[in-house]
Amino acid sequence: MSLQEQKLSVKGERFSSSGFILAAIGSSVGLGNMWKFPYITGQYGGAAFFLIFIVCLIAVGLPVLLAELAIGRSGRGSAASSFVKAGGGKIWERLGLIQIIAPSMILSFYVIVAGWTLHYAILAFSGRLFVNEDFAGQFGSLVSGPMVIVWQAVAMLITVWVVIRGISGGIEKFNKVLIPGLVVLLIVLMVRAVTLPGAGAGVSFFLNPDFSKLTTESALVALGHAFFSLSLGMGILITYGSYVDKRQSLGTATLAIGAGDLIYALIAGLIIFPTTFSFGIDPAQGPSLVFIALPAAFSAMPLGGLFGGLFFILLAIAALTSAVSILEVPVAYAKERWNWSRSRSVWTMALLCFILGIPSALSLGMVPALTFGGKAFFDWMDFIASNILLPLGGLLTTLFAGYFWKKAADAAGLTAAWFRVWLFMLRYVAPVLMLLVLLYSAGFIKF
Ligand code: PFF
Repeated sequence: MSLQEQKLSVKGERFSSSGFILAAIGSSVGLGNMWKFPYITGQYGGAAFFLIFIVCLIAVGLPVLLAELAIGRSGRGSAASSFVKAGGGKIWERLGLIQIIAPSMILSFYVIVAGWTLHYAILAFSGRLFVNEDFAGQFGSLVSGPMVIVWQAVAMLITVWVVIRGISGGIEKFNKVLIPGLVVLLIVLMVRAVTLPGAGAGVSFFLNPDFSKLTTESALVALGHAFFSLSLGMGILITYGSYVDKRQSLGTATLAIGAGDLIYALIAGLIIFPTTFSFGIDPAQGPSLVFIALPAAFSAMPLGGLFGGLFFILLAIAALTSAVSILEVPVAYAKERWNWSRSRSVWTMALLCFILGIPSALSLGMVPALTFGGKAFFDWMDFIASNILLPLGGLLTTLFAGYFWKKAADAAGLTAAWFRVWLFMLRYVAPVLMLLVLLYSAGFIKF
Protein backbone atom coordinates (compact mmCIF):
# COMPACT_ATOMS: atom_id res chain seq x y z
CA MET A 1 0.00 0.00 0.00
CA SER A 2 1.37 3.44 -0.88
CA LEU A 3 1.66 6.06 1.86
CA GLN A 4 -1.25 8.02 0.42
CA GLU A 5 -3.39 4.88 0.35
CA GLN A 6 -2.50 4.09 3.96
CA LYS A 7 -3.55 7.57 5.04
CA LEU A 8 -6.81 7.25 3.12
CA SER A 9 -7.66 3.88 4.56
CA VAL A 10 -7.16 5.22 8.08
CA LYS A 11 -9.33 8.27 7.45
CA GLY A 12 -11.59 6.50 4.95
CA GLU A 13 -12.22 7.72 1.43
CA ARG A 14 -15.05 10.26 1.10
CA PHE A 15 -17.19 11.88 -1.57
CA SER A 16 -17.91 15.61 -1.46
CA SER A 17 -21.62 16.33 -1.07
CA SER A 18 -22.36 17.32 -4.68
CA GLY A 19 -19.87 14.74 -5.95
CA PHE A 20 -21.79 11.98 -4.22
CA ILE A 21 -25.13 12.98 -5.72
CA LEU A 22 -23.62 13.26 -9.21
CA ALA A 23 -21.87 9.90 -8.85
CA ALA A 24 -25.10 8.24 -7.67
CA ILE A 25 -27.02 9.77 -10.58
CA GLY A 26 -24.19 8.62 -12.86
CA SER A 27 -24.65 5.11 -11.53
CA SER A 28 -28.41 5.05 -11.91
CA VAL A 29 -28.46 6.63 -15.36
CA GLY A 30 -27.10 3.90 -17.58
CA LEU A 31 -27.80 1.46 -20.34
CA GLY A 32 -30.94 0.59 -18.41
CA ASN A 33 -32.48 4.00 -19.15
CA MET A 34 -31.34 4.38 -22.69
CA TRP A 35 -31.25 0.83 -24.02
CA LYS A 36 -33.61 -1.26 -21.90
CA PHE A 37 -36.25 1.27 -20.81
CA PRO A 38 -37.29 2.35 -24.35
CA TYR A 39 -37.76 -1.17 -25.65
CA ILE A 40 -39.65 -2.48 -22.64
CA THR A 41 -41.83 0.64 -22.64
CA GLY A 42 -42.42 -0.10 -26.33
CA GLN A 43 -43.28 -3.73 -25.60
CA TYR A 44 -45.51 -3.13 -22.57
CA GLY A 45 -47.71 -0.40 -23.93
CA GLY A 46 -46.08 3.04 -23.75
CA ALA A 47 -47.40 5.76 -21.45
CA ALA A 48 -49.37 3.53 -19.05
CA PHE A 49 -46.19 1.53 -18.45
CA PHE A 50 -44.20 4.71 -17.88
CA LEU A 51 -46.73 5.84 -15.29
CA ILE A 52 -46.49 2.56 -13.39
CA PHE A 53 -42.72 2.82 -13.56
CA ILE A 54 -42.93 6.25 -11.88
CA VAL A 55 -45.21 4.93 -9.13
CA CYS A 56 -42.86 1.98 -8.48
CA LEU A 57 -39.84 4.24 -8.47
CA ILE A 58 -41.37 6.51 -5.84
CA ALA A 59 -43.20 3.99 -3.67
CA VAL A 60 -40.68 1.15 -3.62
CA GLY A 61 -37.47 2.36 -5.27
CA LEU A 62 -36.89 5.42 -3.10
CA PRO A 63 -37.45 3.72 0.29
CA VAL A 64 -35.02 0.93 -0.66
CA LEU A 65 -32.54 3.46 -2.05
CA LEU A 66 -32.57 5.31 1.27
CA ALA A 67 -32.16 2.02 3.16
CA GLU A 68 -29.08 1.10 1.09
CA LEU A 69 -27.46 4.50 1.60
CA ALA A 70 -28.18 4.42 5.35
CA ILE A 71 -26.77 0.90 5.76
CA GLY A 72 -23.62 1.88 3.85
CA ARG A 73 -23.02 5.08 5.75
CA SER A 74 -23.74 3.55 9.10
CA GLY A 75 -21.58 0.44 8.52
CA ARG A 76 -18.82 2.10 6.48
CA GLY A 77 -17.88 -1.25 5.02
CA SER A 78 -18.38 -3.23 1.83
CA ALA A 79 -21.81 -4.27 0.59
CA ALA A 80 -21.43 -7.49 2.61
CA SER A 81 -19.84 -6.30 5.87
CA SER A 82 -21.83 -3.06 6.18
CA PHE A 83 -24.85 -5.05 7.39
CA VAL A 84 -22.83 -6.38 10.35
CA LYS A 85 -20.90 -3.18 11.01
CA ALA A 86 -24.18 -1.27 11.03
CA GLY A 87 -25.40 -3.57 13.81
CA GLY A 88 -26.76 -6.74 12.17
CA GLY A 89 -25.87 -10.37 13.00
CA LYS A 90 -23.13 -12.33 11.20
CA ILE A 91 -25.62 -14.09 8.94
CA TRP A 92 -26.32 -10.82 7.13
CA GLU A 93 -22.74 -10.62 5.96
CA ARG A 94 -23.06 -14.02 4.29
CA LEU A 95 -26.33 -13.06 2.70
CA GLY A 96 -24.73 -9.78 1.69
CA LEU A 97 -22.30 -11.74 -0.49
CA ILE A 98 -25.12 -11.92 -3.04
CA GLN A 99 -24.58 -8.20 -3.43
CA ILE A 100 -20.93 -8.75 -4.29
CA ILE A 101 -21.46 -11.64 -6.72
CA ALA A 102 -24.39 -10.08 -8.59
CA PRO A 103 -22.69 -6.82 -9.61
CA SER A 104 -19.61 -8.78 -10.72
CA MET A 105 -21.87 -10.81 -13.00
CA ILE A 106 -23.62 -7.68 -14.26
CA LEU A 107 -20.33 -5.92 -14.96
CA SER A 108 -19.13 -8.89 -17.01
CA PHE A 109 -21.79 -8.31 -19.67
CA TYR A 110 -22.45 -4.61 -19.05
CA VAL A 111 -19.01 -3.66 -20.42
CA ILE A 112 -19.74 -5.71 -23.55
CA VAL A 113 -22.72 -3.49 -24.36
CA ALA A 114 -20.71 -0.40 -23.32
CA GLY A 115 -18.12 -1.53 -25.88
CA TRP A 116 -20.78 -1.67 -28.63
CA THR A 117 -21.73 1.94 -27.89
CA LEU A 118 -18.09 3.06 -28.30
CA HIS A 119 -17.82 1.17 -31.57
CA TYR A 120 -21.08 2.67 -32.85
CA ALA A 121 -20.05 6.21 -31.89
CA ILE A 122 -16.93 5.89 -34.04
CA LEU A 123 -18.89 4.29 -36.90
CA ALA A 124 -21.45 7.10 -36.85
CA PHE A 125 -18.97 10.00 -36.68
CA SER A 126 -16.86 8.54 -39.47
CA GLY A 127 -19.94 7.93 -41.62
CA ARG A 128 -19.10 4.22 -41.96
CA LEU A 129 -22.33 3.33 -40.19
CA PHE A 130 -24.28 4.49 -43.24
CA VAL A 131 -22.26 3.03 -46.14
CA ASN A 132 -24.73 0.26 -46.73
CA GLU A 133 -28.21 0.27 -45.29
CA ASP A 134 -27.95 -3.21 -43.80
CA PHE A 135 -28.05 -2.24 -40.11
CA ALA A 136 -29.05 -5.68 -38.86
CA GLY A 137 -26.15 -7.18 -40.81
CA GLN A 138 -23.70 -4.65 -39.36
CA PHE A 139 -24.83 -5.33 -35.83
CA GLY A 140 -24.67 -9.08 -36.45
CA SER A 141 -21.15 -8.88 -37.79
CA LEU A 142 -20.01 -6.82 -34.78
CA VAL A 143 -21.42 -9.21 -32.18
CA SER A 144 -20.33 -12.35 -33.98
CA GLY A 145 -16.77 -11.20 -34.70
CA PRO A 146 -13.61 -10.86 -32.61
CA MET A 147 -13.93 -7.06 -32.36
CA VAL A 148 -16.60 -7.52 -29.73
CA ILE A 149 -13.91 -8.72 -27.30
CA VAL A 150 -11.59 -5.85 -28.21
CA TRP A 151 -14.36 -3.34 -27.40
CA GLN A 152 -15.21 -5.23 -24.23
CA ALA A 153 -11.55 -4.82 -23.18
CA VAL A 154 -11.54 -1.11 -24.07
CA ALA A 155 -14.67 -0.43 -21.99
CA MET A 156 -13.23 -2.39 -19.06
CA LEU A 157 -9.90 -0.54 -19.27
CA ILE A 158 -11.65 2.85 -19.15
CA THR A 159 -13.55 1.64 -16.08
CA VAL A 160 -10.29 0.51 -14.46
CA TRP A 161 -8.62 3.81 -15.31
CA VAL A 162 -11.30 5.67 -13.33
CA VAL A 163 -11.78 3.34 -10.36
CA ILE A 164 -8.07 2.93 -9.73
CA ARG A 165 -7.88 6.68 -9.00
CA GLY A 166 -10.14 6.22 -6.00
CA ILE A 167 -13.35 7.86 -4.85
CA SER A 168 -12.69 11.60 -4.94
CA GLY A 169 -9.83 11.58 -7.48
CA GLY A 170 -11.43 9.02 -9.82
CA ILE A 171 -15.13 8.26 -9.58
CA GLU A 172 -16.19 11.70 -8.35
CA LYS A 173 -14.09 13.65 -10.87
CA PHE A 174 -15.20 11.44 -13.76
CA ASN A 175 -18.88 12.02 -12.95
CA LYS A 176 -18.42 15.74 -12.31
CA VAL A 177 -17.09 16.15 -15.84
CA LEU A 178 -19.34 13.72 -17.67
CA ILE A 179 -22.77 14.18 -16.06
CA PRO A 180 -23.08 17.87 -17.09
CA GLY A 181 -21.87 16.81 -20.56
CA LEU A 182 -24.59 14.18 -20.62
CA VAL A 183 -27.26 16.80 -19.87
CA VAL A 184 -26.12 18.98 -22.79
CA LEU A 185 -26.16 16.01 -25.19
CA LEU A 186 -29.58 14.92 -23.97
CA ILE A 187 -31.08 18.33 -24.58
CA VAL A 188 -29.56 18.66 -28.07
CA LEU A 189 -30.85 15.22 -29.06
CA MET A 190 -34.28 15.76 -27.53
CA VAL A 191 -34.77 19.02 -29.45
CA ARG A 192 -33.70 17.23 -32.64
CA ALA A 193 -36.09 14.33 -32.00
CA VAL A 194 -39.22 16.27 -31.10
CA THR A 195 -38.85 18.56 -34.12
CA LEU A 196 -38.74 15.68 -36.63
CA PRO A 197 -41.77 15.42 -38.94
CA GLY A 198 -44.38 13.12 -37.38
CA ALA A 199 -42.69 13.21 -33.96
CA GLY A 200 -46.00 13.99 -32.22
CA ALA A 201 -47.22 10.39 -32.57
CA GLY A 202 -44.13 9.21 -30.67
CA VAL A 203 -44.60 11.79 -27.92
CA SER A 204 -48.21 10.77 -27.45
CA PHE A 205 -47.34 7.03 -27.44
CA PHE A 206 -44.92 7.80 -24.62
CA LEU A 207 -46.97 10.32 -22.64
CA ASN A 208 -50.71 9.60 -23.26
CA PRO A 209 -51.59 6.60 -21.12
CA ASP A 210 -53.94 3.92 -22.39
CA PHE A 211 -54.80 1.95 -19.28
CA SER A 212 -56.44 -0.87 -21.20
CA LYS A 213 -52.91 -1.95 -22.09
CA LEU A 214 -51.89 -2.35 -18.46
CA THR A 215 -51.52 -5.88 -17.17
CA THR A 216 -50.18 -7.34 -13.94
CA GLU A 217 -47.22 -8.53 -15.95
CA SER A 218 -46.38 -5.03 -17.16
CA ALA A 219 -46.62 -3.72 -13.58
CA LEU A 220 -44.10 -6.32 -12.37
CA VAL A 221 -41.76 -5.58 -15.26
CA ALA A 222 -42.01 -1.87 -14.37
CA LEU A 223 -41.10 -2.56 -10.77
CA GLY A 224 -38.17 -4.76 -11.75
CA HIS A 225 -36.99 -2.03 -14.04
CA ALA A 226 -37.32 0.67 -11.35
CA PHE A 227 -34.87 -1.43 -9.34
CA PHE A 228 -32.47 -1.99 -12.22
CA SER A 229 -32.60 1.64 -13.14
CA LEU A 230 -31.87 2.97 -9.65
CA SER A 231 -28.98 0.44 -9.33
CA LEU A 232 -30.67 -1.19 -6.32
CA GLY A 233 -30.19 -4.67 -4.91
CA MET A 234 -26.61 -4.79 -6.18
CA GLY A 235 -24.68 -3.32 -3.26
CA ILE A 236 -23.83 -0.24 -5.30
CA LEU A 237 -25.58 2.31 -3.11
CA ILE A 238 -24.43 0.57 0.06
CA THR A 239 -20.87 0.90 -1.21
CA TYR A 240 -21.32 4.51 -2.34
CA GLY A 241 -23.13 5.22 0.95
CA SER A 242 -20.04 4.08 2.86
CA TYR A 243 -18.16 7.06 1.38
CA VAL A 244 -20.81 9.67 2.27
CA ASP A 245 -20.06 12.34 4.85
CA LYS A 246 -22.05 12.02 8.07
CA ARG A 247 -23.47 15.55 7.71
CA GLN A 248 -25.10 14.83 4.34
CA SER A 249 -28.91 14.52 4.43
CA LEU A 250 -29.71 11.10 3.00
CA GLY A 251 -33.38 11.97 2.51
CA THR A 252 -32.48 14.90 0.26
CA ALA A 253 -29.90 12.81 -1.58
CA THR A 254 -32.50 10.07 -2.18
CA LEU A 255 -34.93 12.57 -3.69
CA ALA A 256 -32.23 14.13 -5.87
CA ILE A 257 -31.07 10.74 -7.19
CA GLY A 258 -34.65 9.57 -7.84
CA ALA A 259 -35.48 12.82 -9.64
CA GLY A 260 -32.28 12.63 -11.73
CA ASP A 261 -33.05 9.08 -12.83
CA LEU A 262 -36.66 9.89 -13.65
CA ILE A 263 -35.88 13.03 -15.63
CA TYR A 264 -33.29 11.11 -17.57
CA ALA A 265 -35.76 8.31 -18.39
CA LEU A 266 -38.26 10.95 -19.49
CA ILE A 267 -35.79 12.66 -21.81
CA ALA A 268 -34.52 9.31 -23.13
CA GLY A 269 -38.13 8.46 -24.06
CA LEU A 270 -38.51 11.86 -25.71
CA ILE A 271 -35.49 11.06 -27.88
CA ILE A 272 -36.28 7.47 -28.79
CA PHE A 273 -40.05 7.47 -29.41
CA PRO A 274 -40.35 10.58 -31.60
CA THR A 275 -37.40 9.30 -33.64
CA THR A 276 -38.76 5.77 -34.10
CA PHE A 277 -42.30 6.99 -34.90
CA SER A 278 -41.04 9.65 -37.29
CA PHE A 279 -39.24 6.98 -39.34
CA GLY A 280 -41.98 4.36 -39.09
CA ILE A 281 -39.95 2.03 -36.86
CA ASP A 282 -41.67 -0.32 -34.39
CA PRO A 283 -40.51 0.60 -30.86
CA ALA A 284 -41.44 -2.84 -29.51
CA GLN A 285 -38.72 -4.75 -31.30
CA GLY A 286 -36.56 -5.58 -28.30
CA PRO A 287 -32.88 -5.18 -27.39
CA SER A 288 -31.77 -4.42 -30.95
CA LEU A 289 -33.84 -1.21 -31.02
CA VAL A 290 -31.01 1.24 -30.39
CA PHE A 291 -28.37 -0.60 -32.43
CA ILE A 292 -30.42 -1.58 -35.48
CA ALA A 293 -33.52 0.58 -35.70
CA LEU A 294 -32.07 3.92 -34.63
CA PRO A 295 -29.11 3.88 -37.05
CA ALA A 296 -31.70 3.52 -39.84
CA ALA A 297 -33.39 6.67 -38.54
CA PHE A 298 -30.09 8.56 -38.23
CA SER A 299 -29.09 7.62 -41.75
CA ALA A 300 -32.29 9.16 -43.09
CA MET A 301 -32.04 12.49 -41.23
CA PRO A 302 -29.96 15.52 -42.22
CA LEU A 303 -26.65 15.58 -40.31
CA GLY A 304 -27.46 12.02 -39.21
CA GLY A 305 -23.78 11.15 -38.73
CA LEU A 306 -23.39 13.96 -36.21
CA PHE A 307 -26.62 13.21 -34.32
CA GLY A 308 -25.99 9.46 -34.44
CA GLY A 309 -22.43 9.95 -33.17
CA LEU A 310 -23.66 12.20 -30.33
CA PHE A 311 -26.35 9.67 -29.45
CA PHE A 312 -23.86 6.82 -29.10
CA ILE A 313 -21.42 9.02 -27.16
CA LEU A 314 -24.30 9.79 -24.80
CA LEU A 315 -24.95 6.08 -24.41
CA ALA A 316 -21.25 5.40 -23.80
CA ILE A 317 -21.03 8.05 -21.08
CA ALA A 318 -24.16 6.74 -19.40
CA ALA A 319 -22.77 3.20 -19.53
CA LEU A 320 -19.30 4.07 -18.22
CA THR A 321 -20.48 6.19 -15.26
CA SER A 322 -22.56 3.14 -14.26
CA ALA A 323 -19.78 0.63 -14.93
CA VAL A 324 -17.44 2.43 -12.50
CA SER A 325 -20.06 2.19 -9.75
CA ILE A 326 -20.54 -1.52 -10.40
CA LEU A 327 -16.79 -2.28 -10.30
CA GLU A 328 -16.38 -0.34 -7.04
CA VAL A 329 -18.56 -2.93 -5.25
CA PRO A 330 -16.22 -5.97 -5.59
CA VAL A 331 -13.21 -3.63 -5.28
CA ALA A 332 -14.36 -2.30 -1.89
CA TYR A 333 -14.97 -5.90 -0.84
CA ALA A 334 -11.49 -7.09 -1.89
CA LYS A 335 -9.78 -4.13 -0.19
CA GLU A 336 -11.56 -4.85 3.05
CA ARG A 337 -11.59 -8.65 3.00
CA TRP A 338 -8.00 -9.30 1.95
CA ASN A 339 -6.53 -5.93 2.89
CA TRP A 340 -5.36 -5.40 -0.68
CA SER A 341 -4.34 -2.03 -2.08
CA ARG A 342 -6.86 -0.25 -4.31
CA SER A 343 -4.83 -0.89 -7.45
CA ARG A 344 -4.44 -4.60 -6.74
CA SER A 345 -8.16 -4.91 -5.97
CA VAL A 346 -9.15 -3.02 -9.11
CA TRP A 347 -6.92 -5.01 -11.48
CA THR A 348 -7.87 -8.37 -9.97
CA MET A 349 -11.62 -7.77 -9.92
CA ALA A 350 -11.67 -6.18 -13.38
CA LEU A 351 -9.71 -9.10 -14.81
CA LEU A 352 -12.04 -11.64 -13.19
CA CYS A 353 -15.13 -9.82 -14.53
CA PHE A 354 -13.51 -9.53 -17.94
CA ILE A 355 -12.79 -13.27 -18.09
CA LEU A 356 -16.29 -14.04 -16.86
CA GLY A 357 -17.60 -11.85 -19.70
CA ILE A 358 -15.76 -13.72 -22.46
CA PRO A 359 -18.26 -16.60 -22.76
CA SER A 360 -21.05 -13.98 -22.89
CA ALA A 361 -19.28 -12.14 -25.70
CA LEU A 362 -18.63 -15.39 -27.60
CA SER A 363 -22.19 -16.59 -27.12
CA LEU A 364 -23.66 -13.89 -29.35
CA GLY A 365 -22.62 -15.54 -32.59
CA MET A 366 -19.07 -16.84 -32.47
CA VAL A 367 -19.68 -20.02 -30.45
CA PRO A 368 -23.16 -21.51 -31.00
CA ALA A 369 -22.54 -24.12 -28.28
CA LEU A 370 -22.78 -21.30 -25.73
CA THR A 371 -26.50 -21.07 -26.40
CA PHE A 372 -28.42 -23.61 -24.34
CA GLY A 373 -31.86 -23.89 -22.78
CA GLY A 374 -33.14 -21.37 -25.31
CA LYS A 375 -30.80 -18.57 -24.19
CA ALA A 376 -27.30 -17.43 -25.06
CA PHE A 377 -24.78 -17.41 -22.20
CA PHE A 378 -25.02 -13.60 -22.31
CA ASP A 379 -28.78 -13.77 -21.67
CA TRP A 380 -28.33 -16.35 -18.92
CA MET A 381 -25.97 -14.01 -17.06
CA ASP A 382 -28.41 -11.13 -17.46
CA PHE A 383 -31.32 -13.33 -16.42
CA ILE A 384 -29.67 -14.77 -13.30
CA ALA A 385 -28.22 -11.45 -12.13
CA SER A 386 -31.03 -9.04 -13.06
CA ASN A 387 -34.07 -11.28 -12.59
CA ILE A 388 -33.05 -13.41 -9.62
CA LEU A 389 -30.12 -11.99 -7.66
CA LEU A 390 -31.17 -8.34 -7.96
CA PRO A 391 -34.68 -8.74 -6.48
CA LEU A 392 -33.20 -11.14 -3.92
CA GLY A 393 -30.58 -8.55 -2.91
CA GLY A 394 -33.28 -5.87 -2.70
CA LEU A 395 -35.48 -8.12 -0.58
CA LEU A 396 -32.61 -8.72 1.79
CA THR A 397 -31.93 -5.03 2.30
CA THR A 398 -35.62 -4.31 2.79
CA LEU A 399 -36.11 -7.04 5.37
CA PHE A 400 -32.94 -6.05 7.21
CA ALA A 401 -33.80 -2.34 7.37
CA GLY A 402 -37.52 -2.89 7.96
CA TYR A 403 -37.47 -5.61 10.62
CA PHE A 404 -34.03 -6.30 12.03
CA TRP A 405 -32.17 -3.00 12.17
CA LYS A 406 -32.47 -1.29 15.54
CA LYS A 407 -30.48 1.75 14.43
CA ALA A 408 -32.61 2.44 11.33
CA ALA A 409 -34.17 5.62 12.70
CA ASP A 410 -30.84 7.21 13.61
CA ALA A 411 -29.11 6.09 10.45
CA ALA A 412 -31.75 7.42 8.05
CA GLY A 413 -31.96 10.79 9.79
CA LEU A 414 -35.61 11.42 8.81
CA THR A 415 -38.25 13.39 10.70
CA ALA A 416 -40.53 11.19 12.84
CA ALA A 417 -43.41 11.39 10.35
CA TRP A 418 -41.27 10.52 7.32
CA PHE A 419 -39.62 7.75 9.27
CA ARG A 420 -43.02 6.14 9.86
CA VAL A 421 -43.83 6.33 6.13
CA TRP A 422 -40.43 4.88 5.24
CA LEU A 423 -40.74 2.02 7.70
CA PHE A 424 -44.25 1.21 6.51
CA MET A 425 -43.04 0.95 2.91
CA LEU A 426 -40.05 -1.15 3.91
CA ARG A 427 -42.09 -3.49 6.07
CA TYR A 428 -45.30 -4.02 4.19
CA VAL A 429 -45.14 -2.75 0.64
CA ALA A 430 -41.64 -3.29 -0.74
CA PRO A 431 -41.08 -6.90 0.42
CA VAL A 432 -44.43 -8.14 -0.89
CA LEU A 433 -43.96 -6.50 -4.26
CA MET A 434 -40.37 -7.61 -4.52
CA LEU A 435 -41.26 -11.18 -3.73
CA LEU A 436 -43.81 -11.04 -6.54
CA VAL A 437 -41.17 -9.65 -8.93
CA LEU A 438 -38.78 -12.40 -7.89
CA LEU A 439 -41.35 -15.17 -8.42
CA TYR A 440 -42.44 -13.67 -11.71
CA SER A 441 -38.91 -13.06 -13.03
CA ALA A 442 -37.76 -16.51 -12.02
CA GLY A 443 -40.72 -17.98 -13.91
CA PHE A 444 -42.68 -19.33 -10.92
CA ILE A 445 -45.75 -17.24 -11.69
CA LYS A 446 -47.06 -16.57 -15.15
CA PHE A 447 -49.79 -14.38 -16.60
N1 PFF B 1 -28.64 1.67 -13.15
C1 PFF B 1 -27.79 1.49 -14.26
C2 PFF B 1 -28.60 1.20 -15.49
O1 PFF B 1 -29.82 1.32 -15.43
O2 PFF B 1 -28.07 0.88 -16.52
C3 PFF B 1 -26.69 0.51 -14.04
C4 PFF B 1 -27.02 -0.76 -13.35
C5 PFF B 1 -26.47 -1.01 -12.16
C6 PFF B 1 -27.85 -1.67 -13.87
C7 PFF B 1 -26.75 -2.15 -11.49
C8 PFF B 1 -28.15 -2.83 -13.20
C9 PFF B 1 -27.62 -3.04 -12.00
F1 PFF B 1 -27.93 -4.11 -11.37
